[in-house]
Amino acid sequence: MSKVVVFDHPLIQHKMSIIRNKNTDTKTFRENVNEIGSLVTYEVTRDLQTKEIEIETPISFTKAKILAKDVVIVPILRAGLGMVDGIQNVIPTAKVGHVGVYRDETTLMPHEYYLKFPIGIEEATVLVVDPMLATGGSAIATIDRVKQHGAKDIRFVGLVGCPEGIKALQDKHPDIDIYVVSIDEKLNEVGYIVPGLGDCGDRLFGTK
Ligand code: PRP
Ligand code: URA
Repeated sequence: MSKVVVFDHPLIQHKMSIIRNKNTDTKTFRENVNEIGSLVTYEVTRDLQTKEIEIETPISFTKAKILAKDVVIVPILRAGLGMVDGIQNVIPTAKVGHVGVYRDETTLMPHEYYLKFPIGIEEATVLVVDPMLATGGSAIATIDRVKQHGAKDIRFVGLVGCPEGIKALQDKHPDIDIYVVSIDEKLNEVGYIVPGLGDCGDRLFGTK
């Protein structure tokens, strides 16, 4: 079974309280989502493999370590986009694949409307990114597609999860490690996380 990692770093918790607050404006919300994206990336990538190379410093030759595999970030549109800049600040060489998925407001079922992955995704470490893990439908559908394209080393990176979404994702993809900042109490009757932070896409892009 995969592991579920919940971040409790004070800096991350501080920023979470900013984005949870309904009075936070769009610009501040977007900035803090990105900053949390940067901070969680250190822990999400802690066990990435490295390989040894030989380099020449100004003084002598020495062995040094670099990442053994490419990293591909796969944000689930739209809200996943909010964390991409923050992650790329820490891993500037990361490529980005996009999956467009929206939830049907009535059935809560995911619908895919866009897909574009970089060449070489099958050999890369893939970070599937979405701030919200609610029913888990969008994450499951996206990871299905990432696996169909041959990727084997996949992690899910989110901000707010809930027991229902974590269980659904673990049941469907027991091999995927899940990283979130909080596991909130529950889903409400219309599929929103309680207490959550509302509709993340709308808050990031100012669409409501
Ligand atoms: C939101 C959110 C996740 C999804 C989570 O997207 O950004 O992708 O819901 O819910 P789930 O776990 O129940 O699938 P939404 O469908 O609102 O699209 P948007 O990001 O384009 O607003
Ligand atoms: N998507 C969101 O943006 N927020 C939720 O609480 C659930 C799904």
